[in-house]
Order: sequence, then C-alpha cells, then structure tokens
Amino acid sequence: MSGSHDTVLVVNFGGQYAHLIARRLRELGAYAILTSPGRFGEVLEGSGDRVKAVVLSGGPMSVRDLAGRSGVCGEVLGSGLPVLGICFGHQLLAVCGGGVVGECEGEFGRAFVRIVRDDPLFEGWGGVEEVWMSHRECVTSLPEGAEVLAVSGRGYVTAFRFKGSLVYGVQFHPEVKHTRKGRVLLRNFLRLAGVELSWRPANILEEILDGLRRELGGSKGRVIAAISGGVDSAVAAALVRKVVGDRLVPILVDHGLFREDEVGEVVSLLKSLGLDPLVIDARERFLSRLEGIEDCEERRRIIGEEFATVFKEVAESLGDVEYLVQGTTYPDVIESGCVESADRIKSHHNVAGLPEWLGLKVVEPLRGLYKDEVRELGRLLGLPEGIIGRHPFPGPGLAVRVVGRFSRAKLEVVRRASRILEEELRRAGLYGDVWQAFAVVGDDRWVGVKGDSREVGYVVTLRVVSSEDAMTADWVRLPYDVLDRVASRITSEVEGVTMVTYAVTPKPPSTIEPC
Ligand code: XMP
Repeated sequence: MSGSHDTVLVVNFGGQYAHLIARRLRELGAYAILTSPGRFGEVLEGSGDRVKAVVLSGGPMSVRDLAGRSGVCGEVLGSGLPVLGICFGHQLLAVCGGGVVGECEGEFGRAFVRIVRDDPLFEGWGGVEEVWMSHRECVTSLPEGAEVLAVSGRGYVTAFRFKGSLVYGVQFHPEVKHTRKGRVLLRNFLRLAGVELSWRPANILEEILDGLRRELGGSKGRVIAAISGGVDSAVAAALVRKVVGDRLVPILVDHGLFREDEVGEVVSLLKSLGLDPLVIDARERFLSRLEGIEDCEERRRIIGEEFATVFKEVAESLGDVEYLVQGTTYPDVIESGCVESADRIKSHHNVAGLPEWLGLKVVEPLRGLYKDEVRELGRLLGLPEGIIGRHPFPGPGLAVRVVGRFSRAKLEVVRRASRILEEELRRAGLYGDVWQAFAVVGDDRWVGVKGDSREVGYVVTLRVVSSEDAMTADWVRLPYDVLDRVASRITSEVEGVTMVTYAVTPKPPSTIEPC
C-alpha cells in the first residue's frame, strides 16, 4: 500500500503519542508509519527512497539512561533526512549532537512558548503561542552548531535547529490538539522536507483494491470473511467482495458474546449491502468453555481457538476455501506487541496469530489503517451509517467486560446494562460523540434495599470514553441527568444490580476495556 507514497518514518520511543503523530501526519496527507528505534535502519533501507522525513516521538524514558546506547542517533543523523524530534526526541537529538539534558522544573499541560528566531518551521505562528508540554528534563546545553528558536515561560530551550540543516527539536507536542498551532508546524515541516501529500482515502481505496487483486486475483477458491459487530470487519469484507465477488462468503459466528440484538441488526445492515452473512450459532460451545475462567487473556485464547475451529469446520463444509479475511487495523498490530518497542498489553485475538492447522491464508486489507481512515473507506464504499457509526467492539465481545470468574449471569448483566446505557446515550443525542460506551461487572457486591428487603447485588461500572484511535482515551463528562437516568434504569431493570458506578480514569494509565 505504501509503494507509491512519500513516507514519513515515526520512530516510536514508546510514548503514548507516537500514533497520534502518525495520524496527524496522515490527516495532512503524508503517509506516516511507525518503526521501533532498533528497526530504523532496516526499515529505511527496505523502503527504497520513499522515506522523505523522520519524526522522533516522545517516550517515557530518560535520555540520560540511553547515553551511548542508542545507535539510532548515528542512523538518524547519518541518513541526511529532515528530522523533527518531539519531547524525548528533541532531547535525544540534543544529546546526539553533543548537547546536555538535565533535570529541570517540570512543565506539564498548557504552557506558552516565545519564538526567539524567525524560522520557516514556525511560519504562521505568532510571537507567543500556546502549546502542550509534558516533561521534567530539559535541554540545558545545546550542541555546537545548533541555534535556539523558541523558549518556554521558564526560559528553557523549547525549540532548536541544527544550523543549515532540516534537523529540528521541539520540547512541546505539536500532535496534541491543545498546541494551538501544532498542525501548522507539522505542515511546515512536511513542506520543508518536500514530502508529497498524496495520502487520501480515495487513493488508499484504489491501492487497497489493487493490492487485493494481486493477492487474491489469481486464486479460484472461496474466501471467508469473519464479520463481527464492528466497522472494521464490515469494511474489510466489502473491500474483498469488490475483488472476488460471489467467491466471498461472509460469516458471522454468534459466540453468545454480542451486544443485545446485535446479530439481527448487523445481519439486516449487511443484507442491505448485498452481503448476506452465514450465521453460525456457536453460543453454547463458546460459553461452556468460558464458564468459570477468570483470566481474560485465557478467555481471549479460548475464543481465538474456538473461532479457528469454527472457521475450519465452515471451510471444510464449503469445500474450496483458501482465504480468511480479518479486519485487523494498525493500532491492533502495534498494541499486540508485534512491534519491537511496544509491550504486549492485551493479545487482541485477531492479531495473536491463527493456528497453522487452520490451513487458511489470512487477508488483512486494513492492517495499515487507523479507524478514522477505515470509516472514510466505509463511506466511500457506501456502507450505511448504522455500520460506520457503530462503536468499536472487541473480537472477544462482552467476554472482556466480565471481570473475575466468567459466568452467564454476569454476562447477561453486562449485556442488559450496556443496552440501557446505549439507549440513553442515543436518546440524549450523545451516542455518536463517544468512542465506546459499555457496562462492566465484576465480583464486588453492594447491599441494596429493594422494596423493603435487603438484596446483595452486583456493582455495575459504566465506561464511556472519547478517543481518536483507542491508543489514548479520556472518560466522557456525561451530563449528570443522563448518568442519573442510566443508573436508575439499570438498578430497576437489570436483575441483581444494586449499585452503578462511573469509571473516571483516562487511558493511560487504565486501558479502555477492564481486562
Ligand atoms: P484497550 O482495552 O486495550 O482497548 O484500551 C483498545 C481498543 O481495542 C479494543 N479491544 C479489543 N479488540 N480484541 C479486539 O479485537 C480484543 O481482545 C480487544 N481488547 C480490547 C477495545 O474495545 C478498544 O477499542
């Protein structure tokens, strides 16, 4: 897919913002991909001359711990490419060039910077601008040959440039919306680097279709597409259908872990597109294997295995199946620890790898895309809003929203309570404004009074988050009256629930799903 685009390599030092940087660059029309520091040289070499610029992301480490260990210094500066170092990347560039980074009074959140030297990187900026920062170390001495471009309110070096080159460091985060002119700065950098801005959903569509034609065009067998309730699998299936036509068999495996009425809703939406999925009722086999299992990773493993078994059975009964389509997206790939610098947070089953015994080749047309790009593609393909606007739904479904021992009773509480939450959000016109909204139940109990009698019931936690790509998320400040209606409906309509709480921790430090 990347073949024909100028590329920006974003070196991911493990900061929560690396994806955001890549997304912002893509929004500006530049094809950006992430690489880990250790793979920088290899990725650069493998990309021919498509890489036109490098961005070094923020990261949780201290540059001082890296001293002498980061080969990426030599590789990045030796590449001769334009470089923009952000936060940790800014400090790394300073150290690479022989400067010094030391502790300083931290600057967190909103701050102001003053431009002290005219530079095309800051074209369109005023003399003083609002930025977003998060650091407790600073560049205390600049490398030889570098010049200060901006300073913070506390007088620290906030932007510098190696004279006569396009190597820049900025201590603040231009990718974060709170940096008011961050987008302008990123666009300036792309212009200075001469990056052609050719990354547009309409072009991506044609490229993905071309890629699929190359991958599947020569085959004769059938292609099965695993449809879940979310937008990714529907878009992936719709793309593949354009290439293989009736050879595509969409399959919806009902594992019993869907949202309320979801199977019927998804089937009728898909039918309206001419994608009539084969629904396989596998509820009993999934739920009986999950009963009593406490560890979510173990549940993911079981679900992945059971999915694979069902796919194999379907493939055998259909006879001539060669491929399986999955809706894996770029953050899934990164978060599953497939990239060297990323820790394995959760093994999202669709990228945890399918067993070899399945004997099917996997097609993942969305593997390089972010969710908003998938949605754009969906619109270009004419998918109904009912699918495009659906909240993302994890492959293992409601299984990851039951905390502690898995039981069907807890599953039903989650399903009912989530439905009520969704209904009330729709009623308040808020459903489309949030990334995900669901209920969670664990083993905590709360004594309630229902009628005049004592009842020891479940505690349901509501999780409603806003996010751009699921890599970071914030809890949504829902109006109190909406929360009130949801809570009172849940305690009166869902049997066994005596308390409703609201989760108010962003990601990080929490993840979105509870386990
Ligand atoms: P977390 O909980 O890791 O979730 O912050 C990030 C996004 O990924 C979804 N998610 C999953 N998706 N299989 C999936 O296909 C999984 O096992 C899984 N776990 C989490 C989650 O809903 C959120 O949008």
